Amino acid sequence: MTESLPLTPEATMAEPAIRVMFTAQQIAARVREMGLQIARDLEGQHPLFIGVLKGACMFQCDLARATPLDVTLDFLSVSSYGAGTTSSGTVRLISDLRNDIAGAHVVLCEGVVDSGLTLSFILDLLRARQPASVRVATLLDKVPCRKTPVPVDYAGWRIGSEFVIGYGMDAAERYRNLPFVGVIEES
Ligand code: PRP
Repeated sequence: MTESLPLTPEATMAEPAIRVMFTAQQIAARVREMGLQIARDLEGQHPLFIGVLKGACMFQCDLARATPLDVTLDFLSVSSYGAGTTSSGTVRLISDLRNDIAGAHVVLCEGVVDSGLTLSFILDLLRARQPASVRVATLLDKVPCRKTPVPVDYAGWRIGSEFVIGYGMDAAERYRNLPFVGVIEES
């Protein structure tokens, strides 16, 4: 059985369960700005963009395309949320990087930083491997939800405690391919 997903903001107007928070156009414009900022900060370097799967997949690729430097890509897979909408508090490494990051200028790409537990776990893991530098870029920063302090160098937007979907982010694995960021409204 197939389900039809609301793939455009227009279609979402007819799907009252999802409210658009940031349109695809807003996201593209903000990601372009972030890429240029990163290029200024890492001028002359060849940064390694590490995406935290799966939520960062869209953001990482768009950010890399928006960064006019010689960028390489790698991926980490961790999980803390499972099928729920709140963090279990336990972060698990599901798959590791392919690259040795010693001496690399790393830009860690996240879709959303919430409690900070995932980011804290990953930063510990990466720093132990002695990169030249680590910067954190996230599309969304849920500042009020922090349970542990973590550094965020580049944030697309600071938001509240809304559970966000789309542009890589999911609810029980659905909605990752929406081109916008939205919120499932309580019915
Ligand atoms: C989400 C998100 C971040 C993490 C942030 O990942 O992509 O990685 O939660 O939450 P935290 O700051 O409270 O730790 P999730 O575990 O849902 O997996 P996913 O990326 O595969 O969707």
